[in-house]
Amino acid sequence: LENGLARRPPMGWLSWAQFGCATDCKKSPNKCISDKLIRRTTDAMVSQGYLKAGYEYVIVDDCWFAKNRDKNGRLQPDPERFPHGMKDLANYIHDKQMKFGIYEDIGTHTCAGYPGLQGHFQEDAKTFAEWEIDYIKVDGCYMNPDQAMINKYVEFGDYLNKTGRSITYSCSWPAYMPVEQADYSLLPKTCNLWRNAWDIGDSWSSISGILKWFARRQDIIAQFAGPGHWNDPDMLIIGNNKLTPGQSKAQMSLWAILAAPLLMSADLDLVSSSDRDILQNRDVIAINQDELGIQGLLVKKASKHTDVWTRKLTPIVDNFHSYAIAFLNKENNGADKVTVTLSDVGLTSTKKYFVCEVFKNQKKPHLININAKFTVKVNSEDVRLYKAIPATPKMLNCKKHLTCS
Ligand code: DGJ
Repeated sequence: LENGLARRPPMGWLSWAQFGCATDCKKSPNKCISDKLIRRTTDAMVSQGYLKAGYEYVIVDDCWFAKNRDKNGRLQPDPERFPHGMKDLANYIHDKQMKFGIYEDIGTHTCAGYPGLQGHFQEDAKTFAEWEIDYIKVDGCYMNPDQAMINKYVEFGDYLNKTGRSITYSCSWPAYMPVEQADYSLLPKTCNLWRNAWDIGDSWSSISGILKWFARRQDIIAQFAGPGHWNDPDMLIIGNNKLTPGQSKAQMSLWAILAAPLLMSADLDLVSSSDRDILQNRDVIAINQDELGIQGLLVKKASKHTDVWTRKLTPIVDNFHSYAIAFLNKENNGADKVTVTLSDVGLTSTKKYFVCEVFKNQKKPHLININAKFTVKVNSEDVRLYKAIPATPKMLNCKKHLTCS
């Protein structure tokens, strides 16, 4: 959507994967969807370095609502869990230089049964603008997944636009219908990002299932990603203590390759320092946020277990792109050793590349010829992620001064 927003994949935090629809604050005071949770997450994003690393949106998913609209038909948050109202919460977040996101649903109800937007588009868009919301995720429950639903998303987007407030618009209609029906060409004109597939769960098998879904349909969907409009494979589950370090690195790397929104969903007060380092790794974030916004692709099955994914990046040197290259061992069958050449994985445009490995603190880049054998050992359910920059004669002359980051 060309509204000036989301020129890079949005980065932030979203409540759903970790906190779901916990509404009983007596039973779980630290886990319920509440003003308290959102404020403490906002604080943690600042104090623990996430904001500095680029994560700027704090987004409350489903279940922030009161059961019903107020007597004037306006949306209202649950009065006990959000006692200060949404405007006050937005102010708090804005004071910390962050942005506030909220959730609604295009149908009559949200998936969890709270009041939906249906029949209230204009007034609800106005309410969100008054609350100074910066981002809205609009889900697709309680409505038939057909063309009429798509039209409703377009219509609500127009009302958002008419408020005059800059609001990042996340749509969900593609997640509710087959790719062929979802009218992908309309998505970049209507939404800043969109959920493509099913909900992520707290496991490696869920991550690898989503990657498989993306790989299968990449020839259709990847072309629609770019500055202002992104495919969304769903939240990062890193930090929930359900993934190994290798699996966490793998999710982060592949989400970077896919130019995916980086929306964490973890209790930030419980994230281990090693997971925090993965979430805040500057090199992988730089790949994700690359200014060209070209979504990466699965380019080669290097073995039964290991796939190679690449993404075109800046800098472009003498008309040759740089690349991110990820070797992903999806299976739990022990380490896998694969050999490819850079030319095998699509880097055919120049003779040599300077290659650095992300997550390795490598000091000096390796100079690799595109036809040289490149052997990589990838542990099970793990990744090796590289960035390759075309080597020009000038760079070759001063190569002893080149460093990896
Ligand atoms: C379905 C969405 O895909 C999830 O991300 C979450 O928003 C839930 N609905 C909330 O009910």
